[in-house]
Amino acid sequence: MNVPLLDVNAQNLPLEAELTAAFTKVLRSGQFIMGPEVDALEKECAAMVHASHGIGCSSGTDAILLALMALGIGPGDEVLVPTFTFFATAGCVSRTGATPVFVDACPVCFNIDVSKAAAKITPKTKAIIPVHLFGQSADMDAVMALANAHNLFVIEDGAQAIGALYKGRPVGSIGHFGTYSFFPSKNLGGFGDGGLLVTSDDALAERARLLRTHGSKPKYYHKAVGGNFRLDPLQAALLRVKLAHYSEYTTRRQANAAHYSAALAQLPGVVPADPAHCKCAASQDAWLADSGARIVLPVPYAHNSHIWNQFTLRIIGQGQRDAFKNHLSSLGIGCEIYYPVTMDQQECFAYTPDAARADCATAHRLASEVISIPIFPELSAAQRDAVIAAVASFLAA
Ligand SMILES: Cc1ncc(COP(=O)(O)O)c(C=O)c1O
Repeated sequence: MNVPLLDVNAQNLPLEAELTAAFTKVLRSGQFIMGPEVDALEKECAAMVHASHGIGCSSGTDAILLALMALGIGPGDEVLVPTFTFFATAGCVSRTGATPVFVDACPVCFNIDVSKAAAKITPKTKAIIPVHLFGQSADMDAVMALANAHNLFVIEDGAQAIGALYKGRPVGSIGHFGTYSFFPSKNLGGFGDGGLLVTSDDALAERARLLRTHGSKPKYYHKAVGGNFRLDPLQAALLRVKLAHYSEYTTRRQANAAHYSAALAQLPGVVPADPAHCKCAASQDAWLADSGARIVLPVPYAHNSHIWNQFTLRIIGQGQRDAFKNHLSSLGIGCEIYYPVTMDQQECFAYTPDAARADCATAHRLASEVISIPIFPELSAAQRDAVIAAVASFLAA
């Protein structure tokens, strides 16, 4: 049985009538830039994540860039970012003229290892961008403590985690800014590119809104150099249709994750991650060797509500992850490596000092071990079983 990594049609086509009505409404309104649909989506999303302001953006990438610009980050500044993330987190820092400083990952939750971030702070450090990777919050108490101690701005990159909770608080509402992506593969997936910036700081919201439209206020009078970072009303109208179903999508992803966790843990060589071995690479290595794990299952921290944008396994052993990928692909099971190359090892960031690179060993290891399997909400029981059978046959081979 073929199982795609993601099936957007399974989610969108049942909503075809509602989506078509939303499209027609915008079509007939004749308003294709800003307006009531964008306003409404901004308010609805901001309410969902407990932020005072929502600012629709052209993409999750542009939301991060806009946040950095609104905070005045630029040449001469340094910004701490996880090295194990999607490119946009680091790329946006570079685009402002600032320098991204790469921080290692936690082997349990895959997020920034805040304990290693402190050592990288210099007088030039202005901000930190924790990423809530795969749908689970980073350690926000540690991030905020570090930021408060060093007077840093915090931009939460929640591209993969809109609606995820950290100790009961929605991610994105804890730092100065939160950013989200509506890229089609995200949990709230749109019909093209789109994103959102949120904040509860009135002045920062005003600054971000100004910069979203070329810094102009009033029209054709430019107070600052911004960009065109607007979300289209068509996109907003369609996203609002899906937003009404969002909690159901999350519940289904969580049910799929629970099913995988229970079923896969029965297989010999499959071991759930152990949060007790989260921060220390040495104890992690010893734990892995003792456990005899060939595959490590993701286990969310008890204080987090994980929304499972990805269900990411670690396949232990030289060359094993690629063998696993080939095995699943040969059986028609979709899978993807998020991410095969850490940011400090990207060609465009070759100027990263060697010392910083050596300090990202856990992330380098994760990049060679991780692989994500289908977790989308509409996954059928038969599809789920086919994925589990494929994992079992890899282990039995
Ligand atoms: C962690 C992370 N940050 C930022 C982005 C950028 O979002 P977008 O693709 O909407 O620009 C993504 C999405 O791909 C992401 O996964």
